[in-house]
Amino acid sequence: MSHLPRGPQGRLRTTYKFLARPVEFLFRCADTYGDVFNMPMYNGDVVVAGSPASVQDVMTAPPETFLPYTLKSVASLLGEHSLLMLSGERHRRERKLLTPPFHGDRMRAYAAIMADTAARRLAEAARAPRAIAQEVMQAISLDVILRAVFGVDEPHRMRAFARAVIAMGDAVTPALAFLPLLQRELGGLGPYARFRRRVEDLEALFREQIARARAAPGDDILSLMVSARYDDGSAMSDQAIFDELRTLLFAGHETTALALTWALDHVHRHPEVLARLRDEIDALGPEPDPERLAALPYLDAVCKETLRLYPLVTEVPRLVARPFRLGEHELQPGTGVAACILLVHHRPDLYPEPSRFKPERFLERRFSPFEHLPFGGGNRRCIGAAFAMFEMKIVLGTALSAWQLRLLDERPPRPVRRNVTLGPSGGVPIALRARERGALRAA
Ligand code: HEM
Repeated sequence: MSHLPRGPQGRLRTTYKFLARPVEFLFRCADTYGDVFNMPMYNGDVVVAGSPASVQDVMTAPPETFLPYTLKSVASLLGEHSLLMLSGERHRRERKLLTPPFHGDRMRAYAAIMADTAARRLAEAARAPRAIAQEVMQAISLDVILRAVFGVDEPHRMRAFARAVIAMGDAVTPALAFLPLLQRELGGLGPYARFRRRVEDLEALFREQIARARAAPGDDILSLMVSARYDDGSAMSDQAIFDELRTLLFAGHETTALALTWALDHVHRHPEVLARLRDEIDALGPEPDPERLAALPYLDAVCKETLRLYPLVTEVPRLVARPFRLGEHELQPGTGVAACILLVHHRPDLYPEPSRFKPERFLERRFSPFEHLPFGGGNRRCIGAAFAMFEMKIVLGTALSAWQLRLLDERPPRPVRRNVTLGPSGGVPIALRARERGALRAA
């Protein structure tokens, strides 16, 4: 049995290439070294698992096999109570408390918020001759999180939150997210000190919102968190609620916005896809019911294919805590292992012509959780997966039903890192015009 498989050499060089050009770099490594290879990163070795079988090994291992890999690099960005930082019993307990609001009837109750928000933000964007799709989608996903998760509703508080969240997001560069070395205050100077100040601004707003939810609970997820009890009857502390809210924002707002931006771009570069999608959406009538939009099969396939082609998160890492067998390799504690979503999603044996956008694939066959995994898997699978898919379908459906969209840049965008996620370069400039039926509705 061999230990670490062969892979690229040089820690700094590998880290740089992985941060700067993740897609090209990972594809090249897979071509050269195969399905499973070692990446010597600046802060330790990470074994990349790029086949469904190796991903299955990672996702089905007993939970105590791993610790969160992020422990080393993202802990100080998210807070020690964040779900992303927890492991073992605390992780299981916290997930049990936080998962239900993002599913079933509770999630469906947010359909109207999603559709209203999309309609309002798109109408605003259409007033200018040019808009950046990523900014519009970010405004929508942020409004949705603020309303559905935080229960913020008054326009002036939404604006204050939005300013603080965007300022905090802008302060997290890829280097800051991946390199703990940079996470030092340096006497109030430098990127980390700036990030800390922005966290404090946001924390002040959060504390007020937590107090409001305690005084007058609403239908939002924060109100559920405030009143939720663990199995032993205890409640979440304010600090734990704050860290979880920050995590939900970090994990949920930009990811959904970038997925929607990619979807708009792909759909408008493939007229046959756009035509088929419009037919499906238009069959629901001029003001489609958001829940019915979320049930449309082709729209669902378009969202899945979007998340396949450029998964927002290219790989999900874990830190090996107990000796772990990955195929023929025995990995020792302290090694990182990453289920590589990007590589699995581009395997020609699973997805013929993998670089082409072909939503039909998802109507023609079903993929296992180790073949299509944009939301990761196992006991750490994204708790917002159903919510994000629901929101993507409602926002995309609402947009295509009412608006004619034109891409202003003929060149397709390149996938580039924005902190840990993979977004389209340039943010996708667009122009919006009301469709006949949209114009009738506005009249
Ligand atoms: C298209 C949108 C989204 C994508 C692509 C996405 C993707 C992911 C991925 C890949 C992971 C890591 C899973 C793993 O380690 O196996 C994750 C974790 C997580 N996501 Fe999402 N996510 C999205 C939206 C959301 C939303 C809307 C929320 C909540 C508002 C959310 C909350 C979380 C949380 C809390 C975790 C940590 C789970 C844990 O460690 O137990 N995500 N997400």
